[in-house]
Order: sequence, then structure tokens, then C-alpha cells
Amino acid sequence: MVIVGDDPASRVYVNNKKKACEACSIMSEEYALPAETAEEELLALVDTLNKREDIHGILVQLPLPKHIDSQKVLLAIDYRKDVDAFHPVNVGKIMIGNFDFLPCTPAGVMELIRLTGIEVAGKECVVVGRSNIVGKPQAMLLLHQNGTVTICHSKTKNLAEVCRRADILVAAVGKANFITADMVKPGAIVIDVGMNRVDGKLCGDVKFDEVSQIASAITPVPGGVGPMTIAMLMKNTVKAASLKLDTLR
Ligand code: GUN
Repeated sequence: MVIVGDDPASRVYVNNKKKACEACSIMSEEYALPAETAEEELLALVDTLNKREDIHGILVQLPLPKHIDSQKVLLAIDYRKDVDAFHPVNVGKIMIGNFDFLPCTPAGVMELIRLTGIEVAGKECVVVGRSNIVGKPQAMLLLHQNGTVTICHSKTKNLAEVCRRADILVAAVGKANFITADMVKPGAIVIDVGMNRVDGKLCGDVKFDEVSQIASAITPVPGGVGPMTIAMLMKNTVKAASLKLDTLR
């Protein structure tokens, strides 16, 4: 795990990932670099980790400081060790449905949906947010399971109306309390990927108190998607190690 700078949220995430590794008996090393680290220095560290035979997974915590080109860093990670599934090779493999790793948060969301017992096939799925980490891959995973998928974003017209069509609504906007009860179809499954701080308190994108009254299933923040993201990261790491073992057989 590589963390650059001292973003408090990133620190919490990395600590949680470290704890999960311990719980799963996965050996982890943390490289905490100062915010002023040069891009070449970070790329050199990634290169060293790529070459180490005893390391199966590499995670560079995002966001990176502004002077570092995140895409360049993600591209430098050996795609076979890319347990976040952010490398363009893995993104492409997800697009065509022939993947080794799934991006952790969208995969965690799919697992939560699966556990409701509701089939995605044929359902109206609306994803609010189009980030590379969540929105776009989330839409693809719902599509793989034959959902009818709409991606909403800041330029979407009649957002509330589009959201109200959803049998499955995934909120990944990054705005506290953005999804209100009038935007949700009664009986819908609502998954809240938001991680917002309001007066120091963690809260999601969904106004939980009112939406929970009408949804058939809903995830809280904290305690919903977050732990699933970490569980999927552990799964990807074990997969990376087992794929490596396969090449040695
Ligand atoms: N920053 C926010 N979410 C993530 C994630 O899933 N992986 C990494 N590496 N950085 C993040």
C-alpha cells in the first residue's frame, strides 16, 4: 500500500485496509511518502514493487497530490498486481467482460445487491455519478448482469424523474443528502456509495432517514459499502496471488 501526503480520509482508508490484511493473514507493507514526493520517485517505488516476487498486490491510494499524474502512476503498476483494477488493461478487460479483477467498490455493491435475492436482469438500474472509480465501472457490472442501465451526472435533465424510474439506485455523487425520498421509487433497492464529511461526521449521498421509509433495502453510511470495498480488495489480492501461483505450476 502506497499513500502520498496526509489526507485524513486516505489515512483512515489505508489503516482499515491494513487491518483487513491482518485479519486475512495477508502480509502488507505500507509506504507513506510525503506530499512533496516527486512523480519519478513514486514511479520508481512502483517499479520496485512490480519486480518484487514476494508482492502480489499493489495499491496506490487516491487521490494523489496535484503535481503527480495519477493516470501515469496507475499505468505504471503491473496489471497483474493491480488489486484496485484501475489499470487500463483491467478497465478494458472489465469492459469486454473477461476480467481477473473487479474494481472493489462496484464489486462490493454487486455483492450487496446479490444478497437481497433480487435479480438484476431486466431491472431499471440508475447510477448517479460517472467517476472512473465507481460510476462507470458500476454501470458496466450492472450491464453484465443484464440490467437496463442509466448513468446520471451533473448535466442530466430531470434527474429526480430518472432516479424515480430505478428499481436499483446506486448513489455515487459525493454530495451529502443529495438523494431525497421524492427521487426514489417505493420498493427500490438503494445503495449509497457516498463518503461525505458534514461537521466532522461521515454521511452518504442519500438522505437515509426519509429514503429508508420507502426503499425495500438500503445501505447505511458508515457501515454499508465501505466494508464491502475492503472485502473485495482482499478477494482481489488472494486472486492475484493465486494467478501468480498458477503461472509457476
Ligand atoms: N480512493 C478512494 N477509493 C479508493 C480505492 O478504492 N482505491 C484507491 N487506491 N484509492 C481510493
